[in-house]
Amino acid sequence: TAVGIDAIEIRTGKLQLDLPNTFAPKKGEDPEKYTKGLGLETSSFPDVYEDIVTMGANAAKSLLDRKGLAPDEIGRIDVATESAFDHSKPVSTYIAGCLEQVYDGDFRHANKGERKFACVSGTQAIDDAYNWIRAGRNRGRAALVIATDTALYERGDPGEATQGAGAVAMLVTEDPSIVELSTEQGYGSMDETDFLKPNQQFPSVDGKRSMQVYLSRMREALEDYESIVGPVEPDTVAYAPFHTPFPGMVRKAGLFAYRHITRNTSIEDELADSIGRQPREDDYGSREAYEEAISEYMDALKGTDRYQDWYAETIEPTLGLSRVVGNWYTGSVHLARTSALRDAAERGLDDAFVGERLLVGSYGSGAQAEIHSETVRPGWREEIEALDIDEQLASRYDLSFEEYTQVHEVHDYDKSVDVEEFTVPDGEFVFTGWGRMNERTYDYVE
Ligand code: CAA
Repeated sequence: TAVGIDAIEIRTGKLQLDLPNTFAPKKGEDPEKYTKGLGLETSSFPDVYEDIVTMGANAAKSLLDRKGLAPDEIGRIDVATESAFDHSKPVSTYIAGCLEQVYDGDFRHANKGERKFACVSGTQAIDDAYNWIRAGRNRGRAALVIATDTALYERGDPGEATQGAGAVAMLVTEDPSIVELSTEQGYGSMDETDFLKPNQQFPSVDGKRSMQVYLSRMREALEDYESIVGPVEPDTVAYAPFHTPFPGMVRKAGLFAYRHITRNTSIEDELADSIGRQPREDDYGSREAYEEAISEYMDALKGTDRYQDWYAETIEPTLGLSRVVGNWYTGSVHLARTSALRDAAERGLDDAFVGERLLVGSYGSGAQAEIHSETVRPGWREEIEALDIDEQLASRYDLSFEEYTQVHEVHDYDKSVDVEEFTVPDGEFVFTGWGRMNERTYDYVE
């Protein structure tokens, strides 16, 4: 039986920051650095009553309501996040607690947990759900996987430009409506110090290095994946959704991936063929000469029509949501998949798209990349058309720079500031304050 993703719901933070028009002028930077360089228009932020729990619980509630599911039909709730505020009690218990306020029945029978490995943990939580179902331990129940983050950086950090906040809830079941997951996976994993939060809320980031590590681990994951399934032919992939910290990163990842899967034309492999082994730096005389040769090759490849066409069809459509919400860390690759499927629906594809392949590349700093493929299932279009993300995006409150600085402080756990909410809660879970043991508390507002 096929196992995979049966339903998706997305919840964006209810505030937005306009990067070219509000943020760039205050930073004294050219707006095109954001729109053209990083590839971003706006980022999402949580209102003062929103956080990882409310966004996750609101996404999960929409999903359960739309699918008509009761708590006893969910056997597992896993949350993936790198924004947790509790080192012991998992965010999934807070979310289950929220949901129990509004449903008859409870989640006492459900196995709950929290997955951590930076942004790749959303995909790892889906793997756990897949394995649980494949092992026959689910007793007919579905798994709820929620990737939720407030991706905020220290004010003034270069990463500030790529912030974002939101949650993606996914239902993993047998006979799924959206995609079937492949059994084969490729990994590239190594102890790296590129982006981390050693007991601190905002990350320590070596931005330039993190980009190199992303590309290296992704290449290894692709090699590992191909060692199981054989070479990936570019025209067998309908879309390649990759982890998207910002679209400019995926512009580079797309080129690297294409170079890899069309490697028979790469200079490294031509050289490997002629010398009978993988080339080393000294084949070029120096590291600089080697890097220059690779960079010249990449520039030439980037300029070819075949690459431009492949990129326009396979990668560019995965970036639609990311451009207007920023980085959602654990949810980001799942937004990329959703953007791809939305593109297919907009192109009017329906049954013809069933059976097509997505090549999904996840990445978590620290660092690990994972590649697997997914096969589109009958029912995908109805599920994707049920999303209300366009309405959510259109109703975000547009922050001034001054308001943005206040919102940033509200979500800094080290600070206690009193700021009025910008939007009015309406049929959703809200953060209400702190309880007797310093736990965060929540209510449902009708
Ligand atoms: N017009 C057009 N393009 C412009 C421009 C202009 N006026 N000004 C700059 N650009 C381009 C630059 O050329 C650059 O593009 P290329 O890399 O293709 O050359 C791009 O805009 C960004 O400019 P900078 O490199 O100068 O930007 P920066 O140094 O201020 O910051 C960053 C970039 C280092 C990625 C920073 O945003 C950062 O630290 N981000 C957080 C870390 C991150 O996201 N890393 C990604 C990999 S790690 C990961 O994926 C995990 C995760 O989620 C965090």
